[in-house]
Amino acid sequence: MHNYKKYKKNYFLPPVPSTNWVNKDYIDKAPIWCSVDLRDGNQALIEPMDLEEKLEFFQMLLKIGFKEIEVGFPAASETEYQFLRTIIEKNMIPEDVTIQVLTQAREHIIRKTFDAIKGAPKAIVHLYNSTSVAQREQVFKKTKEEVKQLAIEGAKLLKELSLDTEGNFSFQYSPESFPGTEVDYALDVCNNILDIWQPGCGHKVVINIPTTVENAMPHVFASQVEYINNNLKYRENVILSLHPHNDRGCGVCDAELGLLAGADRIEGTLFGNGERTGNVDIITVAMNLYSHGVDPNLDFSDIPNICNKYEKLTKMSVHERQPYAGSLVFTAFSGSHQDAIAKGMSWREEKDCRHWTVPYLPIDPKDVGRKYDSDVIRFNSQSGKGGVSYILKQNFGIQLPEKMKEEMGYISKSISDAQHKELTPEWIYEVFESEYMGTSHIFRIDECHFKQQDGIIAEVTIEYNKQHKVLNGKGNGRLDAVSNALKQYFSVDYEISCYEEHALEKGSSSKAISYVGITCHDKLYWGVGVDPDIIKSSIQALIAAINRSGQIS
Ligand code: KIV
Ligand code: ZN
Repeated sequence: MHNYKKYKKNYFLPPVPSTNWVNKDYIDKAPIWCSVDLRDGNQALIEPMDLEEKLEFFQMLLKIGFKEIEVGFPAASETEYQFLRTIIEKNMIPEDVTIQVLTQAREHIIRKTFDAIKGAPKAIVHLYNSTSVAQREQVFKKTKEEVKQLAIEGAKLLKELSLDTEGNFSFQYSPESFPGTEVDYALDVCNNILDIWQPGCGHKVVINIPTTVENAMPHVFASQVEYINNNLKYRENVILSLHPHNDRGCGVCDAELGLLAGADRIEGTLFGNGERTGNVDIITVAMNLYSHGVDPNLDFSDIPNICNKYEKLTKMSVHERQPYAGSLVFTAFSGSHQDAIAKGMSWREEKDCRHWTVPYLPIDPKDVGRKYDSDVIRFNSQSGKGGVSYILKQNFGIQLPEKMKEEMGYISKSISDAQHKELTPEWIYEVFESEYMGTSHIFRIDECHFKQQDGIIAEVTIEYNKQHKVLNGKGNGRLDAVSNALKQYFSVDYEISCYEEHALEKGSSSKAISYVGITCHDKLYWGVGVDPDIIKSSIQALIAAINRSGQIS
């Protein structure tokens, strides 16, 4: 039964209004990024990654440029533990990279975690316990004070073990299930922990605010973050981190508004993989910055490859509409969008624009490794002349005359509509070829000879009805002379009203393509010819146009 009355507002506002973040409209620098793919992401997979897969994923994260990576929950499984031992013992952690491990605030788990990270060159030990009303009441059956003490005891043990264990360690604390926690209570727990860890200039501490289960609108989270930012002790030596989940579909907003509210760091995953609806998608947050001209300090220039590796290792799939990464996110099928994109791209080329302003494309698809010819403009029954001419130009170098575009658009569109299929570039070319070039079956020209004598005289040998005939015609150019010979012989009437040509390929093997439009009875008929010889290509185009006009049977 659909019963909304079962639910109520279940979040807490900060004790004082904290909405200064609303006056900012721009994030001017990248936050510190921490990938939690190998921990939060991995724990949400149907089949968590094995050691080899985690190693390959780790390498990919390094290549992208992550400097902080939560690599696991070493007390949770043998694979997690072995992963830590492998990357530490095989010196696989680059000097400028800090690994992070998660531990609950429970003694035996903390001890096992320190066993796993022995010898780590730089590691953040991430302590968490759940602080929400629901968890205090239902899961732990403990008071606020008792839950705070759990965190404090855990923090003390971290400090003690870090002194007794070989390696270089710093600390992070998360009041897990923060969205269901009273904001001032969460702050109090964090400040108590900071009192124990005593952050300082050379040893900063991370306080990480998660939306473990996202239960409020992003502006509520931003106000909570602003309040915490304003009231954290030792603030200058605290890195305020956010760990958004995506239950309401607002993980990216939480991250962005939280950054406006004063956060310094974002924890998230590639493509938003993670528990339930996932963690915040770091690619989106990073590329959103990029699209405003801010260096995200992460390299997503080869997203297709990242998608493939991610899909292989996690056995998840990247949705076609996933921001910046999905296979369709730069694709325009609609005619008006295609037209605007094609015009925007030409404008860009002509004006040599410095900034990206192409309509409908938030960033240049090339910047994330997508291709213009196959990824941007694709053709179906919603598409039109802009799309078809763009595809012919990009894929085959064919630059349709302006007046021909509309007809070719309609022809292609109706085929796609009738067949309920997308037309590939090859299919579009076939349509173009059979429509405008493949109509020489009624008659064809075998040979042409020209003489210059008071204009041009053409001697044209044609094959018509399986017979060869030699025709003569006179004109002020070669095409005109051939045309006059044909008009006379077939008793047809038309005007050559359009003629265009261009080279089809660059280099010595270049062919010419000619487009001839003839008008008869107020209707325009197009024909196209391709040949290394420009005269031959124009004559072929003329024959195709006459044949298409249906005047000769
Ligand atoms: O979502 C969450 O709250 C977590 C914590 C462990 C930070 O993953
Ligand atoms: Zn999480």
